Amino acid sequence: MSSNPVCIHDFEKHAKDILPKAVYDYYSSGADDQQTLRDNTAAFSRWQICPRVLRDVSSVDLSATILGQRISMPICVSATAMQRMAHPEGEVATVKACSSQGTGMMLSTWATSSIEQVAGAAPGALRWLQLYIYKDRMLTKSLVRRAEKAGYQGIFLTVDTPYLGKRLADVRNKFKLPPHLRMANFESLDLAFSKKDYGEDSGLAVYTANAIDPTIKWQDIDWLSQLTKLPIVLKGILRADDAREAVKHGIVGILVSNHGARQLDCVPATIDALAEITAAVEGKVEVFLDGGVRRGTDVLKALALGAKAVFVGRPILWGLAYKGEEGVHKVLDILKEEFKLALALAGCRNVNEVDKSLVKRSPWATPRI
Ligand SMILES: Cc1cc2nc3c(=O)[nH]c(=O)nc-3n(C[C@H](O)[C@H](O)[C@H](O)COP(=O)(O)O)c2cc1C
Repeated sequence: MSSNPVCIHDFEKHAKDILPKAVYDYYSSGADDQQTLRDNTAAFSRWQICPRVLRDVSSVDLSATILGQRISMPICVSATAMQRMAHPEGEVATVKACSSQGTGMMLSTWATSSIEQVAGAAPGALRWLQLYIYKDRMLTKSLVRRAEKAGYQGIFLTVDTPYLGKRLADVRNKFKLPPHLRMANFESLDLAFSKKDYGEDSGLAVYTANAIDPTIKWQDIDWLSQLTKLPIVLKGILRADDAREAVKHGIVGILVSNHGARQLDCVPATIDALAEITAAVEGKVEVFLDGGVRRGTDVLKALALGAKAVFVGRPILWGLAYKGEEGVHKVLDILKEEFKLALALAGCRNVNEVDKSLVKRSPWATPRI
């Protein structure tokens, strides 16, 4: 790679060159045949932008709000597990970069830095906890309490992972954490994913089957709502009827997500699921999107189709692998500058001027680099 990455693809190429194979494979893989993995990015090219002209775009304001909080741009960071495999500072580097960029970070339950460490590294940063519901409900409750105490501003409850999707590279690599790392939110070796032997399967698939509660259902959303005053967003909704049900259960937001194509393969690309979901919730809750966002134009398309903000997963890991905090900062900077240019060239001076008329279905899909 050139020493100066200029787009997200450059960061990924660099990460592939320098990370251990099992780590790169874990970060990059999707489930099964990876149909959705390819489609998450390809689907953006099936939408075209219809720019307005002659609108004085000499000054463009990128700021947005998410769940009542102001952010410098509608681009936030999604939960990706085990970030210290990419850089020794892992999640701590990520939260510092988010803080200096004025945007929000969603911390994975499966982070290699604890809830408290991340809060301590950037006390003023906008942070949310991504939550998995464990079979052990007391443990789940304690994660929520720790997030409240450490000043997290919301919970993103992942609802698409009763079991782990089948990521073939992880099975082949018998993926587990390198011995010097652990999931930092847990005490016991078992829950910290730091046992020595998980047999022939992906270690994480075995871990998930042992620890995560596959019985969760809509009543558990009520259980969680009663447990905490923190706003709850459901992460992993792909259908209009589920979105309407979520609204009935009093949640404040929906993250249209297919878990970066790592759970069920063959599901729609998130950009294709978005419009139906924003229509279904009729503005009653905020809708966000993640999956395949790699360009400023992707952000513009998602906003035009009704998202309040987008989240990025893998690009942050590639930034970490490049140069820790500085690398994440640079990834966010590139996305910000690309989005700013896209907004201006589409004739918008701020995010409120982005509407559905800015996009239309393309008659063909243009391959992406
Ligand atoms: C390496 C990796 C780890 C992830 N870990 C989690 C996790 O712990 N919890 C979760 O809810 N989602 C997790 N996700 C899914 C992301 O939160 C997000 O939905 C996805 O990465 C967005 O797609 P993108 O990577 O194409 O931007 C993970 C994704 C990746 C790539």
